[in-house]
Amino acid sequence: MRYLTFALGKGRLAGQTMELLAKCGIECKEVTDKNTRKLLFTNEELGLRFFLAKGPDVPTYVEYGAADIGIVGEDTILEENRRVYEVLDLGFGKCRMCVCGPKEAKDLLDHHERIRVASKYPNIAKDYFYNQKHQTVDIIKLNGSVELGPIVNLSDVIVDIVETGSTLRENGLEVLEEICPLSARVIVNQVSMQMETDRIKALVNKMKENLG
Ligand code: PRP
Repeated sequence: MRYLTFALGKGRLAGQTMELLAKCGIECKEVTDKNTRKLLFTNEELGLRFFLAKGPDVPTYVEYGAADIGIVGEDTILEENRRVYEVLDLGFGKCRMCVCGPKEAKDLLDHHERIRVASKYPNIAKDYFYNQKHQTVDIIKLNGSVELGPIVNLSDVIVDIVETGSTLRENGLEVLEEICPLSARVIVNQVSMQMETDRIKALVNKMKENLG
């Protein structure tokens, strides 16, 4: 039996992902052990391997078959646009992709002005402004703390995920337009799905049964 490999997104989803896998009887606590620099963990008994990766890399590992299964936010799946199967909505990690900024920037959006948009999600931002709103904008790619954009005048607005809204509130910004709701998803490599259908379906069903 060959190993099935899970790629798990680091960060805010990791804890809930581990809890879900534990409920499924899949023990992989070591993965989140802060005291180890080891990257790949094996559960010999179940024939499974696990690793944590930066969110945007999870769909890459899955598309190339370096991981059979990935657990990652839908924001990342939309942004990366990789050839993978999306098989399950885990229902946690719920948040919204939004255009945010100072209240005054609402006018710029309403009048379709050529504005600057900072985002960790340039593809989602581009698709929203160009294909949905038909508004020409300049997109500036950032890698984090995107809320700084309008505060220090790098950009007029941002496209970012909003969960509790506290980052926006603490920085005097607000949601100006909502793009889409988001949650954590399970993705599967397309070849693995054909070759290991039964094992993968059993794992996905187990996750489904243990949700919520
Ligand atoms: C995300 C996102 C917002 C914040 C939203 O950032 O980019 O900044 O969380 O959450 P809230 O609505 O609950 O405040 P993250 O914490 O992933 O860090 P980053 O800014 O460094 O990317």
